[in-house]
Amino acid sequence: GGGRPRTEILPASPAGTARAAALLRAGDIVAFPTETVYGLGADARNGQAVARVFEAKGRPAFNPLIVHVADTGAARRHVVWSDLADRLAAAFWPGPLTLVLPLRENHGISPLVTAGLDTLAVRVPAHPAARALLAGFDGPVAAPSANPSGRISPTDAGHVLAGLDGRVAAVLDDGPCPVGLESTIVGLADTPALLRPGGLPAEAVEQALHQALARPATDDTISAPGQLSSHYAPGASVRLNARTARPGEVLLGFGATDCDLNLSPSGDLHEAAANLFGHLHRLDAMNKPIAVTPIPDHGLGRAINDRLRRAAAPRED
Ligand code: TXA
Ligand code: MG
Repeated sequence: GGGRPRTEILPASPAGTARAAALLRAGDIVAFPTETVYGLGADARNGQAVARVFEAKGRPAFNPLIVHVADTGAARRHVVWSDLADRLAAAFWPGPLTLVLPLRENHGISPLVTAGLDTLAVRVPAHPAARALLAGFDGPVAAPSANPSGRISPTDAGHVLAGLDGRVAAVLDDGPCPVGLESTIVGLADTPALLRPGGLPAEAVEQALHQALARPATDDTISAPGQLSSHYAPGASVRLNARTARPGEVLLGFGATDCDLNLSPSGDLHEAAANLFGHLHRLDAMNKPIAVTPIPDHGLGRAINDRLRRAAAPRED
């Protein structure tokens, strides 16, 4: 007796997916793969289930969650749609893009999900296992990244268990996430704005919108609270723009460079994005200070540098 029940590891088979959907329906929380990172899902209409997500992650209640839906039609049940939303959804859904839109009347979403805001972050994931789960569950799934709050996001089921074993009912395991960075968040409730760089390059969004995105100063805004400093942080310290490792440091490299772990020896930003969190998890386990060589600051490199800056930010705890 006593102790927490163990986390079920479910294969992304029809039976495993059906089990995961049944757990969601029962108000349990389930980690599942998306193309970006693993999410920690709950029925977005069920306040008790959503509360379990915040509890399992140790996430502050003022930090709202992204709702995952099967398609644009499902998204439109919860938010006030617009021409710009239509343009981006047509171009990039399913995919690594989250849209923040005004909540509509009778949206049905628990106020815990939005932390009381009058907007909702919504996305249609592309990963086949996520799509199968959403089809089976047939409802909106609120899901932050499946890591303890403030830690590195999980890009495989092992990362999820390392952070949350025993705190979630199950993890649907379908191997590593192909994109490896969280979704790009675009705010459309106001002037179109890049709220978080991510797995879809901001340049592509601007091209589809035929306009530039505003870039709110993330240091003192609360529009995306997860943006604030010390986030995505490994246990050890992180030093950016290093040329070489100092004594005691491990070196994370990019391109043709002599280092302990390389994000992409050929200098490919997609490969680097897919490797970023896995490499940080591995270096984290070595418990040594981490130095990182420079990463080009365009395309996915911008989101990679954003995450690295957060990993390097002074810690609050
Ligand atoms: O790729 C992703 O987006 C992953 C997968 C699981 O979908 N999810 C993810 O969730 O990264 P999370 O909770 O780690 O990050 C969600 C971000 C937070 O920074 C949160 O503040 C912001 O989205 N957010 C959520 N709702 C918002 C809203 N209504 N307005 C502005 N920002 C919002
Ligand atoms: Mg997160």
